[in-house]
Amino acid sequence: MNNEELVQKFNKQAHKHEKHRRDEADNKWRRKICGSVKGKTLEIAVGAGMNYAFLPYDSDYTGVDFSPDMLEVAAAGAKEYKIDADFILSEIEHLSFPENTFDTILSTGTICCYKDPVRVLNLLNTWCRHEGQILLLEHGLMDNKGLRWLQHYLNPLLLKLYGCHHDRDILEIVEASELQIVKHERAQLGNLYLLWTRPAG
Ligand SMILES: C[S@@+](CC[C@H](N)C(=O)[O-])C[C@H]1O[C@@H](n2cnc3c(N)ncnc32)[C@H](O)[C@@H]1O
Repeated sequence: MNNEELVQKFNKQAHKHEKHRRDEADNKWRRKICGSVKGKTLEIAVGAGMNYAFLPYDSDYTGVDFSPDMLEVAAAGAKEYKIDADFILSEIEHLSFPENTFDTILSTGTICCYKDPVRVLNLLNTWCRHEGQILLLEHGLMDNKGLRWLQHYLNPLLLKLYGCHHDRDILEIVEASELQIVKHERAQLGNLYLLWTRPAG
């Protein structure tokens, strides 16, 4: 699938995600990872702004996504939650921030999307301040062998339907990047990966 097709696929999901934002407003895993957000913050592939119920009101916040429809609903969400936000319409891979720019970079449910997720994590490594943090809440391969087999089996169909991979080993991907893992937790039979990381020294 080329990028234009992917953008169209996510554009079509924007209003469904917007409705979902209300259901996610008490998601304890989002609350947990977003509880660490502080300072100048970049959220990559922000989607419909599903984390806005949990962000600190005083954050200096920028959200990026390549889907204009997702960004439109994210901007409305930011208003609703009184978050003073800037938005950038771009592919993450085409962005260039100066080194050492952000205190926090937040990614939730995005590693499933990129063609080369290690490359994206290494970009975050350079954009994050030395003493900053990169926070990840991702879905990926589960613990149970049978369920992993099912995830591999269903992946081609789910990728076609939603534009995201459902069988990535998130821990392996983060370990292959330059990020340093500070803390890591799993939930929901291992499907959810919560990672507190920092840039390489
Ligand atoms: C599964 S949604 C997750 C959205 C949000 N982060 C959340 O937690 O609900 C994936 C989002 O990534 C965006 N996306 C995927 N690949 C991207 C890329 N290469 N550059 C920028 N945005 C991308 C899509 O448009 C979509 O909004």
